Amino acid sequence: MNQTNTDYFRNRRSVRAFRGEAPSRELIDNILRDAMRAPNTGNKQLYSAVVTRDPARLEALRPAHFSQPASQAPVLVTVCADVRRFERWCEVSDAVPQFRNLQGLTAAVIDAAIYAQQIITIAEMQGLGTCWLGTTTYNAPEIAAALKLPQGVVPVGCIAIGWPDGQPAQCERLPLRAVVYEEEYPEFCDEEIKELYRAKDDFAENAKFVAENGKQTLAQVFTDVRYPASTSEPFSAKFRQYLTDAGFRL
Ligand SMILES: Cc1cc2nc3c(=O)[nH]c(=O)nc-3n(C[C@H](O)[C@H](O)[C@H](O)COP(=O)(O)O)c2cc1C
Repeated sequence: MNQTNTDYFRNRRSVRAFRGEAPSRELIDNILRDAMRAPNTGNKQLYSAVVTRDPARLEALRPAHFSQPASQAPVLVTVCADVRRFERWCEVSDAVPQFRNLQGLTAAVIDAAIYAQQIITIAEMQGLGTCWLGTTTYNAPEIAAALKLPQGVVPVGCIAIGWPDGQPAQCERLPLRAVVYEEEYPEFCDEEIKELYRAKDDFAENAKFVAENGKQTLAQVFTDVRYPASTSEPFSAKFRQYLTDAGFRL
């Protein structure tokens, strides 16, 4: 890896504020084409992407992302796990597709996630700002309706893309030893776990969240405020229904 690439990876961060002008269609198309060189399962390419740049359609799509700040980007690329297009090809080729099972879905979700990350990396290396919108899987039916996704095409992530308006601060990461283990997975005692997560607990922005939300620990912000079961359970049920309606046997 040359120095420029190392700098990119060490300095990267998500961007949630964008300038008004949209990146050109040619630039976005080139990014989406180059990203297709990503590895994928059996080279079946079980993914697709829908680009939204029309202002009226952006307005219609944003509520499905709770109109969060990053969804105000001038381009939203919804990346989908897509077994349908491959199935259609099988059907017109006298082959019987069998992909609406857990392995088929998993392969398609992995393909889509890798494709999405490749889009992010290439876009950011060209100076664009991006942010993944995880709200995509919360509101899959609404997104499918807005984009006219057929059954078997599952929105997995939406990438907000635009020219960055300023440079946001970089956030923290765990130390390498918390994530990468030599030869065997270790057993951490309570003190070791606390020590490994100290970088997160001590990060000033995170400490601010804890105080603002009247919590004792950062972990409580994650469990009680940002990702409580009271929202993740209904959104899980909604997503499961979306998948079973599409004929996935899970
Ligand atoms: C699956 C996934 C879902 C995400 N969902 C959102 C989201 O809905 N809104 C948002 O602002 N950022 C979202 N992000 C971005 C993360 O918050 C961000 O990557 C993380 O906090 C680390 O920050 P960094 O990318 O700046 O290093 C998401 C990222 C991923 C991979």
